[in-house]
Amino acid sequence: MPQQSAAAGVPAAPTAPLRVGILGTGGVAHLHARALGLIDGVELVAAADPTESNLAAFSGTYGVPSRFPGLDEMLAAQPLDVLHICTPPGGHAAQTAAGFGAGAHVVVEKPAALSLAQLDTMLDAGRAAERGLAVVFQQRSGSAAAHVKALLDSGAFGRTLSALCHTHWHRTAEYFAVPWRGTWATEGGGTTLSHGSHQIDLLAYLLGEWSAVHATMWRLERDVETEDLSHASLVFASGAVASVVSTVLAPRESSLLRIDTENATIELEHLYGHGHAHWRITPAPHVDESTAASWRLPAHEVPSGHDALFADIYSSLLAGHGMPDIAGNPARALEIVTGMYASAREGRWVAREDLADPALRGGLAAPVIEARAAVHAAAPST
Ligand SMILES: NC(=O)c1ccc[n+]([C@@H]2O[C@H](COP(=O)([O-])OP(=O)(O)OC[C@H]3O[C@@H](n4cnc5c(N)ncnc54)[C@H](O)[C@@H]3O)[C@@H](O)[C@H]2O)c1
Repeated sequence: MPQQSAAAGVPAAPTAPLRVGILGTGGVAHLHARALGLIDGVELVAAADPTESNLAAFSGTYGVPSRFPGLDEMLAAQPLDVLHICTPPGGHAAQTAAGFGAGAHVVVEKPAALSLAQLDTMLDAGRAAERGLAVVFQQRSGSAAAHVKALLDSGAFGRTLSALCHTHWHRTAEYFAVPWRGTWATEGGGTTLSHGSHQIDLLAYLLGEWSAVHATMWRLERDVETEDLSHASLVFASGAVASVVSTVLAPRESSLLRIDTENATIELEHLYGHGHAHWRITPAPHVDESTAASWRLPAHEVPSGHDALFADIYSSLLAGHGMPDIAGNPARALEIVTGMYASAREGRWVAREDLADPALRGGLAAPVIEARAAVHAAAPST
């Protein structure tokens, strides 16, 4: 466990490997275990999952020494420095609070929670325990995002004017056959929350605070309660205006970000992760060559992903510094998505300040528009 140094309040760097436990050993947990295996000074000591087949396969693959049917058993059996939560989102809030209660930092998969109210309780529990929370939005990570963010923050690109943030993914009916997917109660939202939020998080990581959003939610094809397509206009505090589209109905999948500033167009087209080849920075005609050359991506490339995000998180934890800046603002993407659902529900612009209203913080559910039904209703009868 982290030690306190002689300097009051400054945690000392740990002298023993950080002991990590993983809760939930389904699909995404494998990305966690593989990424942890690449980091010196970290030991995956335990895993827990009530689904025995997943737990056995996972623990066997990664040589996890201790296995448990649930979180309580895992936390009671041994101290953990960091708890990774890879369970369906409905459990994240209580599991995070339990992890903090046991003295661990928590790395929780997106979406962090089913509502901002739940995320508030998680952040409060972290503050009370003096432990950090990181939400796994791995598209923030990697050398290209860091480079572009530094240039945007420095003002080199001038004022940001407009942006596109399009998540065109494809998820079949089988994907939604998993019981927790596709319902407001268990998944919390549809494609905006579960898929689009990755790109939304990256956009907001790059552009900073948002101020207002207007959205519509649609269900065109999948047999789900939630939306399979959403459209939104998102305004940032800087005045930049973004068009945000999220869908699971796109046969040619693509994740697209485009930011137009006074001095440059910055484009990213990738799918589930990005390296330097996915980014393009085009200077405006008035920008001189040497300035444009100074914007080139650095020679050393770190692709985005769980590996890069965890490398940053653990280099900070191992140095005794708590969660790094890249884990900052864990609530922002959920705030924006909450604003989108509230806007669709209430048919109006929702401002960031509106989210102080407990009625909006409490949940995400929004009525979706059944487009086919609407079109049929409008068509002249034959
Ligand atoms: N960051 C990413 O790119 C990414 C990718 C995929 C999934 N995810 C997120 O990761 C989370 C899990 O998704 P998944 O695809 O791995 O789901 P999954 O259904 O494949 O696996 C979930 C696992 O959690 C276990 N589980 C359920 N309740 C539990 C509990 N109370 N205690 C312990 N284990 C429990 C299940 O038995 C299962 O093994 C979701 O929040 C999802 O949105 C993130």
